[in-house]
Amino acid sequence: MQSSPNLPGLTFLGIESSCDDSAAAIVRMNDRAEILSSVVEGQVNLHAEFGGVVPEIAARAHAERLDGCVERAMAEAGVSFAELDGIAVTAGPGLIGGVLSGVMLAKGLAAGTGLPLIGVNHLAGHALTPRLTDGLPFPYLMLLVSGGHCQFLIVSGPDSFRRIGGTIDDAPGEAFDKTAKLLGLPQPGGPAVEAEAALGNPARFVFPRPLLDKPGCDMSFSGLKTALLRTRDTVIAEKGGLTKADRRDLCAGFQTAMVGVLEEKTRRALEVYLEASPAVPALAVAGGVAANTAVRTALEDVCAKASVRFLAPPLRLCTDNAAMIAYAGLERFQMGLRDDANLSARPRWPLDQTAPAMIGSGKKGAKA
Ligand code: KG4
Ligand code: ZN
Repeated sequence: MQSSPNLPGLTFLGIESSCDDSAAAIVRMNDRAEILSSVVEGQVNLHAEFGGVVPEIAARAHAERLDGCVERAMAEAGVSFAELDGIAVTAGPGLIGGVLSGVMLAKGLAAGTGLPLIGVNHLAGHALTPRLTDGLPFPYLMLLVSGGHCQFLIVSGPDSFRRIGGTIDDAPGEAFDKTAKLLGLPQPGGPAVEAEAALGNPARFVFPRPLLDKPGCDMSFSGLKTALLRTRDTVIAEKGGLTKADRRDLCAGFQTAMVGVLEEKTRRALEVYLEASPAVPALAVAGGVAANTAVRTALEDVCAKASVRFLAPPLRLCTDNAAMIAYAGLERFQMGLRDDANLSARPRWPLDQTAPAMIGSGKKGAKA
């Protein structure tokens, strides 16, 4: 990344460690935001043999790696601590050991340098990303679809989020990952299932689309996974095993049901959002599942029909990273919000404090 020290504007260090990515980034805000560096060290190999993220292993890895990520981010940006205006850190929601590693490091750095400290909600980082990438004006609708989260948010300000729906059990990425596991495909499951689905017949197995018969924007994906398991077992019982074609058709049926639910619920969420007559109506997506071409195409189509702009940030900014944390910290800082040494790490931290709590566990631990 380009180094551009001594420019006017605000420069923030961001630190992220809420799940299985240790990340640090430097973001500078002038008229528009600029990512000077963004370092992400994933932990997929560390957790691969366990079939999911192991919180203790994640926490230890964050504690060992975060310092190095910060050093690299600062070196790549060509920025010294003297040139920073603040430090933003994910203070939740997430796996508590990992969040604590980040918060402790940020507190230490803030104490040592005298820089302001800003605690950021990880979900706010995702939700504000379309402003970092495209300067999207408020209010916009955000669909967060990842391995740990699934919610529709009306984003009206850096600290103003209204949740109008979400999953009541599994997150979509979790459902993709579990489907891959059930069919013997590699993790993370999303890309593997998508690749198989592209070669399959989506009409052979028709899976349920839970909660479509209920009003509102809430979603449910655990029944879909159970239906897939049953169908898989029926095919195995009939034939003694799964052929390549069976596996592809199961993936295609699963993905079609998933897309159907996201599509219809997005249509409904847009109706709620458009009631407020936003000046520049827009839907933005974030999270790993937004990488899925079938999901993306369906959402683009829904938006086109409703004359709503559709935005999908580049994948490296859709998935977990620290640039979004630095940026969200900058927005909070500009609002005059500050934290101090009392900042606590929170496993649960709903963005919309007025919305009812979500249930389900999620890849990142308790859902917010
Ligand atoms: O946002 P992310 O990197 O991490 C979380 O915060 O969870 O999302 C990872 C999730 C995984 O569950 C992965 O299977 C899913 O996103 N994913 C996909 C695709 N690429 C990643 N799901 C469906 N289709 C894809 N192409
Ligand atoms: Zn995330």
